[in-house]
Amino acid sequence: MEAKQLILELNERFREASAQQVLEYFLTEYAGRIALSSSLSVEDQTLTDMIVRQFPSLYKNEKGGCRVFTLDTGRLFPETYQLIDKTNLKYGIQIEVFFPDYREVQRMVREEGINLFYNSVESRHRCCRIRKLEPLKRAFRGLDVWICGLRREQSVTRRDMQVVEWDEIHGLIKVNPLISWTEEQVWDYVREHRVPYNKLHIRGYPSIGCEPCTRAVEPGEDVRSGRWWWESPDHRECGLHQRH
Ligand code: ADX
Ligand code: SF4
Repeated sequence: MEAKQLILELNERFREASAQQVLEYFLTEYAGRIALSSSLSVEDQTLTDMIVRQFPSLYKNEKGGCRVFTLDTGRLFPETYQLIDKTNLKYGIQIEVFFPDYREVQRMVREEGINLFYNSVESRHRCCRIRKLEPLKRAFRGLDVWICGLRREQSVTRRDMQVVEWDEIHGLIKVNPLISWTEEQVWDYVREHRVPYNKLHIRGYPSIGCEPCTRAVEPGEDVRSGRWWWESPDHRECGLHQRH
């Protein structure tokens, strides 16, 4: 079946489904070819908890189960590193960490400086490409399905996203089990299941990425308004979730 037709059918099938039902289907059908990319956000922590604790035999099995990986850009908050460790300990797992190519980072920093991202949108995209996109491509080797913690509510750029999407750029099925969840639902889940979360969330950081590109927001402000705050809202993606 053609990829786009398959995506239409899967979205129809999961129209009323819970996040757990969506996960169970993909973890079963794509064992050994599926991974969660986690930024350690509350959404990704929720998905990690669901996969590892609710579906242990689908997380690890003879077919290869499901991988959980994160991209360490080298510019993360200390609190994020602490959370990686805490999560590994709590669940008895080892989140795979992917790093950027040091030669590329070195060249970029020599040419444009250590904090080039503030100079222009182009320089910011260069940094995201080297520190996130290239490692992501490596992390994708051997995969057919990519699980993400995206939610429609998060930003204008995510409003029309579906639970299942075809990622044209990487040639993968992208699954967003929490796409229709509200922020409140995520926090209810986290509290109920005692899921470890980034301590910065209680200090005014609803969305956390790299330290120099994330700041705290005022109560009631858009959840992603602290990410690349110096750019206009329709630019505020790092390219990970580009759709065409
Ligand atoms: S971002 O593109 O603006 O950085 P956001 O922080 O909202 O994204 O996260 C959306 C999804 O992108 C996460 O649920 C996760 O699947 C993926 N993602 C973002 N950053 C990372 C990262 N550093 N490592 C792994 N996955 C990530
Ligand atoms: Fe670089 Fe900022 Fe992108 Fe992180 S978010 S990769 S520091 S530009």
